[in-house]
Amino acid sequence: LLLTACGGGGGTSGGGALTLGFAQVGAESGWRTANTKSIQESAKAAGIELKFSDAQQKQENQIAAIRSYIQQKVKVIAFSPVVESGWDTVLKEAKTANIPVILTDRAVDSADKTLYKTFLGSDFVAEGKKAGEWLAKEFGSATGDVSIVELQGTTGSAPANDRKKGFADVIASNPKFKVVASQTGEFTRAKGKEVMEAFLKSQPKIDVLYAHNDDMALGAIEAIEAAGKVPGKDIKIVSVDGVRDALQALADGKINHVVECNPLLGPQLMDLVKKVAAGEQVPPRIETTETEFDQAAAKAALPQRQY
Ligand code: AHR
Repeated sequence: LLLTACGGGGGTSGGGALTLGFAQVGAESGWRTANTKSIQESAKAAGIELKFSDAQQKQENQIAAIRSYIQQKVKVIAFSPVVESGWDTVLKEAKTANIPVILTDRAVDSADKTLYKTFLGSDFVAEGKKAGEWLAKEFGSATGDVSIVELQGTTGSAPANDRKKGFADVIASNPKFKVVASQTGEFTRAKGKEVMEAFLKSQPKIDVLYAHNDDMALGAIEAIEAAGKVPGKDIKIVSVDGVRDALQALADGKINHVVECNPLLGPQLMDLVKKVAAGEQVPPRIETTETEFDQAAAKAALPQRQY
């Protein structure tokens, strides 16, 4: 699915316009929709011609989009890699064509760091740790085992790998915390609901749901309610992102804690695009600033929340 959202004068990189080819993961979540909007609006505001593609969560589609940007001789390529591995060949092709690459939101595991100029996004391990720390505090005085189910993000993606690790590292300090089931919900509401339904059937006791994103938590809430249980009370829920619907669920008491992941990367990305196109040095890694929400913070943030 290749779309062009144009801002600033037309033409390709051969002319005066600064052309950016952006290969997006898909439209799997509210976070992703906000991220796409931020990129499209910021490109327009910065006068950058944006060629935008939606990979529908498939690595082969992203690789095809990047190859097409190389063929079109765009000035800069940016992408949010659907999974961490398997990028070296196409990144080498971009390097050979002298087209700088910027990673946004998700990282790759390539050993050769010269294949891309910089990474702009979140520290996903830190996000997983925050979720674990909330849990350790919330269940600090619990005497018996605490049974946790985990809805993982897209298998092989940086946020799924890192959020799992950060959380596991924190809860490992106390053996009462037991992850009794962990499965991918592919970062979508529909899959989050489906997998939670299965967890509810297979697990005799669930105290906590840790969802790697809000959309899966929101899908899971539907499954929990359909099973006659009360989300936020019978099963406590912690998730990651901070989209409006999740903050509303937190304000309503159906989610207990949300760790923020910031999707509004567009303005910083456009600054980086201009810099790398001009051959300027940029830092190898730029992390976004993020917070956490309890119920009071969600209520306070909701009136201004844009996504
Ligand atoms: O890479 C960021 C993650 O991808 C977000 O947490 C999730 O909602 C999205 O799909």
